Amino acid sequence: MWKPPERIKFDPDPGPAPDAAEAASARLFSPLQVGPVRLESRTWVPAMVPWRASGDGMVTDDVLDWYERFAKGKPGGLVIEATGIRDVPSGPLLRIGHDRFIPGLKELAARVHQASHGETRLFIQLIDFLAIRRRPERSRYLNEFLAITDAHRAALNMDDAPEAEVRAALAVLGDDALAEILSPREMEALAMGYRERVTDVHLSPIADLPNALPGLFAEAAKRAEVAGIDGAELHYTHAYTMASFLSATNERTDGYGGERENRIRLPLEVYQEVRSRTGAGFAVGCRMSAEECIDEGSNLDDSGYFAAEFAAAGMDFLSLSRGGKFDDAKQPGIGEAAYPYTGRSGYECMPAAISDAFGPFGRNVAAAAQLRASIRAAGHATPVIVTGGIHGFAQAEAILAGGEADAVGAARQGLADPDWFEKIRRGRGAEVRQCTYSNYCEGLDQKHKQVTCKLWDREGLDNAGVKRTSDGKRRTTAPDWR
Ligand SMILES: Cc1cc2nc3c(=O)[nH]c(=O)nc-3n(C[C@H](O)[C@H](O)[C@H](O)COP(=O)(O)O)c2cc1C
Ligand code: SF4
Repeated sequence: MWKPPERIKFDPDPGPAPDAAEAASARLFSPLQVGPVRLESRTWVPAMVPWRASGDGMVTDDVLDWYERFAKGKPGGLVIEATGIRDVPSGPLLRIGHDRFIPGLKELAARVHQASHGETRLFIQLIDFLAIRRRPERSRYLNEFLAITDAHRAALNMDDAPEAEVRAALAVLGDDALAEILSPREMEALAMGYRERVTDVHLSPIADLPNALPGLFAEAAKRAEVAGIDGAELHYTHAYTMASFLSATNERTDGYGGERENRIRLPLEVYQEVRSRTGAGFAVGCRMSAEECIDEGSNLDDSGYFAAEFAAAGMDFLSLSRGGKFDDAKQPGIGEAAYPYTGRSGYECMPAAISDAFGPFGRNVAAAAQLRASIRAAGHATPVIVTGGIHGFAQAEAILAGGEADAVGAARQGLADPDWFEKIRRGRGAEVRQCTYSNYCEGLDQKHKQVTCKLWDREGLDNAGVKRTSDGKRRTTAPDWR
């Protein structure tokens, strides 16, 4: 992962923990209405892909264990990882693109509600993503993958030459000379691996996204509702399809790109379709970026506009992340795919202990406060959830007291200690296992390995009932607290 050049090391700084009486009157542990759903507290575990689904996207025992473990800590809201809305193979990522996925998700919802004694509301993050390929070997790319065009032939003065000769001529060129002949997108496919964009409207499935996506999202949300999940979080953040529509880099000219009023059109249409096909008791919100954190991306003014429009449309909540874009991702190794959390924007999404002067804690709070103010100024009470480096009671309470957000999310602190909210609520905050923001877990995610935390994954490995990762070296869930 990219590291800020200042390379200042930060240690977790959770501050003092309250006693049980103080915790009982804390804002953090007061209820919050999220549309039709009541959260028992303002604590939230945002989506985290743990790489535990089966190869065909089904809920496995490991998936059940993972969410059950979070539910035992009784967060107010728990969000199931980014779950694919299409019925297409996508490796061990959870999917919801067909009714056959419902029974597994039903069991998951039941396990979470049971393990939290009904105190945790369960949401599912619904995602669409476009095609991405691994970075190819140079010779294979030039000999096989690159489609030879008239432009290449003209640039090489080889109008009538057989294709094999054109490829051979390209293969002997250095990178600078190659860049004179290949288009920027072709050079990118060579250097980074091919990646589709929402602006590739010459490809009919991409041109057709505004027709296809509202129905796909709505059917997925309906399945979630049938499975007993309490609400859907539409994935409108980071590097994926819907965030790419919102992005200032979206220059589509079909009414779904360009001005921000057009960029928000599809996200609103998706939301409206989801709303119209789900019942009144089912919450629908989205996760969006407070800032894209790339030079050419949407700014805070844009996202304030988007947030107010989503609120006006009736979304039940807005969960805010930031960054995590492909645009500034590092070059992957040959045979690997680009990963949208390896550049500066990736750092903003999952800031680590080695940081700049601001540090990794609460980096998204000021932006969230501004978005919440835009929503309130437009006359809406839509709850805002902020995430990013939140790991202490005082910090969380100050965010709520200052009106910067209505609930606080903690992904990595929740992974380090799924009971941390509950420990604080019981006045036992001294027992919290503090995340050190090492990003070891994020490194596992990047390699598509089962995600665990380095603070507990070797603990009690031989104890009865402890399940191990497929390499046999790590336990799959955090040790029980009590
Ligand atoms: C292993 C891992 C997987 C993640 N998967 C998702 C995901 O599926 N969807 C999403 O919106 N964010 C995902 N995130 C980002 C987190 O939800 C969160 O925004 C980020 O880690 C910053 O919050 P934190 O400082 O509390 O960890 C993931 C983070 C980690 C560490
Ligand atoms: S591995 Fe554990 S300590 Fe390190 S960032 Fe992830 S959750 Fe925090």
